[in-house]
Amino acid sequence: MLTNLRDIVSTSQRNNSRDGITGFLIFDKTWFVQILEGDKTQVMETYNRIARDTRHSTATIMNVRDVEARLFPNWTMGGAMRTPEMEEVYLEHGVGSAMDPSRLKSAQIIALALDLQAFEETKRKGQRLAS
Ligand SMILES: Cc1cc2nc3c(=O)[nH]c(=O)nc-3n(C[C@H](O)[C@H](O)[C@H](O)COP(=O)(O)O)c2cc1C
Repeated sequence: MLTNLRDIVSTSQRNNSRDGITGFLIFDKTWFVQILEGDKTQVMETYNRIARDTRHSTATIMNVRDVEARLFPNWTMGGAMRTPEMEEVYLEHGVGSAMDPSRLKSAQIIALALDLQAFEETKRKGQRLAS
């Protein structure tokens, strides 16, 4: 699964930079939750490709809306697989050990993704400082 996730993220980054799409992908054991932002047509085309992908069983759109500005401008597709070190971030957002996206509001997902992004960025800075 780890290798698959890497493949997914690298294909996504390649296609999304071509298509002007940014966003974030959360993977928690059995669920993917993804935020896609960009031109509406491009986002829908990307979604339709993802929906046909057999590496997941079903795809559902939780929310579609127009936004003033991107929330993940620097990420052609940021991603975080849930690991014990991020447990605190998930718990702060009320996401218990078994995430159930159908019980989450899209605002909650966005807030979680933003904090996971911040977490990843801090971790990277830490690694740079340590090396
Ligand atoms: C959970 C998940 C998220 C994905 N996210 C993206 C994405 O953001 N952008 C993208 O182009 N493909 C994404 N993919 C891959 C697409 O389903 C599809 O395999 C890919 O777009 C095909 O690209 P290719 O024609 O360049 O091989 C995702 C796949 C999965 C399973």
